[in-house]
Amino acid sequence: NWSMDDFIDLSIQKIRDTVGDKKVLLGLSGGVDSSVVGVLLHKAIGDQLTSIFVDHGLLRKNEAEQVMDSLAGKFGLNIVQVNAQERFLSKLAGVSDPEKKRKIIGNEFIQVFNDEAQKLEGIDFLAQGTLYTDVIESGTDTAQTIKSHHNVGGLPEDMHFELIEPLNTLFKDEVRELGEKLGIPHDLVWRQPFPGPGLGIRVIGEVTEDKLEIVRESDWILRDEIAKAGLDQEVWQYFTVLPGFKSVGVMGDGRTYDYTVAIRAVSSIDGMTADFSKLPWDVLQKISTRIVNEVEGINRVVYDITSKPPSTIEWE
Ligand code: XMP
Repeated sequence: NWSMDDFIDLSIQKIRDTVGDKKVLLGLSGGVDSSVVGVLLHKAIGDQLTSIFVDHGLLRKNEAEQVMDSLAGKFGLNIVQVNAQERFLSKLAGVSDPEKKRKIIGNEFIQVFNDEAQKLEGIDFLAQGTLYTDVIESGTDTAQTIKSHHNVGGLPEDMHFELIEPLNTLFKDEVRELGEKLGIPHDLVWRQPFPGPGLGIRVIGEVTEDKLEIVRESDWILRDEIAKAGLDQEVWQYFTVLPGFKSVGVMGDGRTYDYTVAIRAVSSIDGMTADFSKLPWDVLQKISTRIVNEVEGINRVVYDITSKPPSTIEWE
């Protein structure tokens, strides 16, 4: 009779047997998979684990702080936080093609991770949050090719680590159950999907700090209102997008010429197909009012009412 408690005991034993007195490196993304791996490994081998958390400046508001507070603060993981915002922004300057942006972000991510990993001595193992579904997919190569998906990971080139993948027999819902059992905060365990390139693909076209700020702030308001309406577990994924064009509006005595923010909210099982969510009008109204009032440079809010297909969930 398989239970999650047995799984925890068994995998801790297995990790200890494999690692011995050697050292393990982990890349934390802020997502549930790598967080669960981190907490599980820390339980098994304590300070023999070092984690690297690359902040590429494309995270949601407060996300980096939440990860650090919870994993370093509450669980005591040894985390090297790398503030690489400027590195990413300068690489992205002048680039507007979505696939190029993805490649740049993915490559830069591996580079920054490598640079930090090189500074650490005597690491033998690299831990990854590979799930059972990733194992199956990479075997049959059904991975989505419409958009290249660059996730955290990729082996540092010049280093030869042995891989540790403690979640590679689990499905996503089991990882969440494991996360809850390990005491990881509910918010983190049930976090909605968030793409590796982050807000970099929610600013349409060229990414600048000003535009990121608009997406970050409007997304924060959206999430706040969705949570207040008690819809955060109901809607599969929700976020704001900055299409990057300006239109005319009127505020106070004056004419404005400012950006539009788009709201995207979908229901889905696995992200392969999706329906736009029929969010209640009053919730949408509150979100719209708050975004225009609280986010500088916005005078219009629109709601994306297309499903996937023919659209995709993200706009890039
Ligand atoms: P699309 O936009 O293809 O998104 O309908 C389907 C799901 O995948 C996520 N997504 C990504 N995830 N790297 C990721 O790790 C990416 O480049 C990427 N692009 C899209 C998207 O958020 C949705 O959940």
